[in-house]
Amino acid sequence: MGLPEERGRGGSGSGGREEAGARSRPRSWSPPPELSRSAHVSSLQRYRELHRVSVEEPREFWGDIAKEFYWKTPCPGPFLKYNFDVTKGKIFIEWMKGATTNICYNVLDRIVHEKKLGDKIAFYWEGNEPEETTQITYHELLVQVCQFSNVLRKQGIRKGDRVAIYMPMIPKLVVAMLACARLGALHSIVISWNEGVDLWWHELIHEAEDVCEPEWCDAEDPLFILYTSGSTGKPKGVVHTVGGYMLYVATTFKYVFDFHAEDVFWCTADIGWITGHSYVTYGPMANGATSVLFEGIPTYPDVSRMWSIVDKYKVTKFYTAPTAIRLLMKFGDKPVTKHSRASLQVLGTVGEPINPEAWLWYYQVVGAQRCPIVDTFWQTETGGHMLTPLPGATPMKPGSATFPFFGVAPAILNESGEELEGEAEGYLVFKQPWPGIMRTVYGDHERFETTYFKKFPGYYVTGDGCRRDQDGYYWITGRIDDMLNVSGHLLSTAEVESALVEHKAIAEAAVVSHPHPVKGECLYCFVTLCDGYTFSSTLTEELKKQIREKIGPIATPDYIQNAPSLPKTRSGKIMRRVLRKIAQNDHDLGDTSTVADPSVISQLFSHRCLTIQ
Ligand code: WTA
Repeated sequence: MGLPEERGRGGSGSGGREEAGARSRPRSWSPPPELSRSAHVSSLQRYRELHRVSVEEPREFWGDIAKEFYWKTPCPGPFLKYNFDVTKGKIFIEWMKGATTNICYNVLDRIVHEKKLGDKIAFYWEGNEPEETTQITYHELLVQVCQFSNVLRKQGIRKGDRVAIYMPMIPKLVVAMLACARLGALHSIVISWNEGVDLWWHELIHEAEDVCEPEWCDAEDPLFILYTSGSTGKPKGVVHTVGGYMLYVATTFKYVFDFHAEDVFWCTADIGWITGHSYVTYGPMANGATSVLFEGIPTYPDVSRMWSIVDKYKVTKFYTAPTAIRLLMKFGDKPVTKHSRASLQVLGTVGEPINPEAWLWYYQVVGAQRCPIVDTFWQTETGGHMLTPLPGATPMKPGSATFPFFGVAPAILNESGEELEGEAEGYLVFKQPWPGIMRTVYGDHERFETTYFKKFPGYYVTGDGCRRDQDGYYWITGRIDDMLNVSGHLLSTAEVESALVEHKAIAEAAVVSHPHPVKGECLYCFVTLCDGYTFSSTLTEELKKQIREKIGPIATPDYIQNAPSLPKTRSGKIMRRVLRKIAQNDHDLGDTSTVADPSVISQLFSHRCLTIQ
């Protein structure tokens, strides 16, 4: 059950951790048979059949799924129309254009009235203090959403208007989002309060009626705008639309977490990010799921908080980011193992490549080798999961997002835009639209075309590097902008960082390129140590040796800096753009408004490495 399975040459059969380097032949881990038995997709063969149909006949595949939703009027014309090729004209994607529906109606009224789940708990809410808790049923949520929709209507909000929401992680934030969606207004969740413009909830909600007819929207009407995290530059307003997004998040949620009615799902993401939009609000609710909504942080009142919440609510499916896993890993196994975690069935990760070392800790310690890990690769722009294992079907390899989801046709291109077959490394692109793809950059369609479609006409370009191994598994190697070119050899940040994190003293690592007079570029590494270790020249020598052995002499770092913390976006992504500047002592950092804790930057500047080690 869930034990490693040797697959072909290279595996020596000794312990798991040493085997996990990105370049060495990785092992695969089978889905647990008892989970596969009741899973929606229970074998790799079944996944492959379904995937083939979904890509060859997307209209039929998604058309069948659309029948499970409520449409005020059916789709009058083509189910899908698109142009992905800039040389043939404007880029556009239309799924079910002309059909009318309302996403709020689908995730609330349909669940309460048609599915008869009004009394089911939609959210268990847990505040920062463990004793601060509350819960809300689907019926109660429907009443509150109707009330708030009426408030918004009274304020003059109409279909197509944009509403900025500024709220903490509480059920009322879900209420506010859904109330906008009910009126066909676009929600945009922001981080700052706007004095003189913004209004207080409690001053508005009195006496609002608890019935509110939804506004019927075209499937292609905009649903929300989300600004991308800005880890590389000026934020873009990503626009998603009602119909396709609804189908896509509902379907990915169902299959990727293998959702069943009795599940308690917990996605730790902030609702303000795409992961929260898709997998706290819309995806789970479209399936009538019960979720945990957590307002606190993983280290308060102590570092076992996550696992005490898992036990408290008997969480079955848990979804978090590698940054949280690496943070908790620093404190060892005890805070995890002192809790039972017996309810857990599936563990998920999103946001960055997960180092095999962190994957194994998540799998072996948190999931006690019982729970498949779904390493989900996707983007704000894609709306939902793109590459991911299915928990009952896909043998996993630590650090690989494995295979494409239904309807997703990936390819790997070289610099000249040629599709590479078999084992290969290059640009990750998608060849055809899936329902959840963004439709435009808000107010700047040209930027949409330039960013995602100009480099390789005919493809959606993710901006991520990717490797496909001999078994067809996809491995994200990091953002193309972050790739390192040392003496003409391309290296990915993900693989060097993974080799560093495999050392027992290292909790987290970030690697950037640094100018070098001979090699062109060399490696500058920032490392955060685990509790109880100290930074020393012995340690840096050990780290260099480890990288040489795991990857090769070409990847030997020239600089290794102690980094008590790393600059990250509020969604937990390491900002390598800022680290590159720190390495070069360049204080002109550009836009740093998305750095979660700016004090980290000055701390790193003052500890720069001045000489090549
Ligand atoms: C990265 C988050 C490797 C990737 C949903 C992508 C990942 C960017 C993974 C999007 C993963 C996300 N493995 N890399 N499982 N998930 N990424 O828009 O570089 O905040 O392009 O969306 O995160 O980040 P975003």
